[in-house]
Amino acid sequence: MTVSMEQLRRCHFAVDLGAARTRVYVKGAGLVVDEPSAAAVNTRTGALIAVGEFAEKMTGRTPGYIRVVRPVSGGTVVDIEMAQRMLRHLLGEKLRRTLRRKPRLRAAAATPHDADPLAQRATVETLIGLGARRVELVDTLIAAAVGCGLPVEQPEATMIMVCGAATTQIAVLSLGAIVTAERIPVGGDAIDHAVVQHLRQHHELMLPSQSVRPLQLALSGNGLTAEGPEQTEIHGRDVATGLARSVHVDTSAVRRAIHTPLTAVLDGIGKVLRDCPPDLVADLADRGIMMVGGSALLPGLDQMLRNATGMPVHIAERPDVCSVQGLGAMMEGRIQPLALDPLAG
Ligand SMILES: Nc1ncnc2c1ncn2[C@@H]1O[C@H](COP(=O)(O)OP(=O)(O)OP(=O)(O)O)[C@@H](O)[C@H]1O
Ligand SMILES: [Mg+2]
Repeated sequence: MTVSMEQLRRCHFAVDLGAARTRVYVKGAGLVVDEPSAAAVNTRTGALIAVGEFAEKMTGRTPGYIRVVRPVSGGTVVDIEMAQRMLRHLLGEKLRRTLRRKPRLRAAAATPHDADPLAQRATVETLIGLGARRVELVDTLIAAAVGCGLPVEQPEATMIMVCGAATTQIAVLSLGAIVTAERIPVGGDAIDHAVVQHLRQHHELMLPSQSVRPLQLALSGNGLTAEGPEQTEIHGRDVATGLARSVHVDTSAVRRAIHTPLTAVLDGIGKVLRDCPPDLVADLADRGIMMVGGSALLPGLDQMLRNATGMPVHIAERPDVCSVQGLGAMMEGRIQPLALDPLAG
């Protein structure tokens, strides 16, 4: 996939359709949508009942005839029609009218590194359904690197790790292009799942999804790496009786459960470094790894990576919105045009 800065500058809006969240940047207006990629549908009539935040709140709380669907899965649009309906609602009538007025509406979209042609097509089709006449695809790794202000256009290596909900993407970039990269099908969701499974297996406790975050915070006291017998109290529902129950959970055991999915991420970092030319690895030892994506906020993840790699690890400011902000910066022409031409993916 190759798209030039000139083409990107002609775009009117940019979309990052993530497994967890959908973000839209409109040229001249900035980030206008940042909501969960969810839609609640009435299965009897097919009508859309809610989208975004409100639809996500309905998860697990709906009567039988209402279903909460997620049109994006694993970083790929799996239900084009539903993704279009969701985006239309998230944008709202006023923004849609503004976009409709453009004579030849052009859109930019972030696409996962190494996305196959079918996945790319699904993203393009979704935006064409929204009225775009042309869609430019940009590798998420490049968009995120630009969005967090890494000096991608310089002839020195930078390493970025995009920690999403469904995937983790890692790359070494230099001169505006990807030198080596890996996409690992493990993200924040797999980590949440590991916590939920641990409590189910070792404490016969079912954890409502909104309780996962407080537990992660409890783990953060000394970082994901700490060992020790601290305990934290968790409320949930007994697997057998279905009654409310609280248990004291050994936080170091939960940390070990989280380590299993994280091993795949560490292997990915190792592979990217092994595939990287030695001169660039020397740059990286100083600069370290920049973490972006919502899961970069997982308490203690940065410290764990520091310990495992021996490299400096930084978390971007607002890591969750870096990709879409990067697309926005490129659309608005805020980054040097020549250096990143073409944006090789
Ligand atoms: N404060 C936080 N602590 C821990 N995890 C968090 C926090 N905030 C967000 N996350 C996690 O970040 C993930 C969402 O990140 P992000 O918005 O980058 O995903 P996405 O772009 O939708 O997914 P993908 O890029 O994989 O398609 C979720 O798994 C969520 O649990
Ligand atoms: Mg993402």
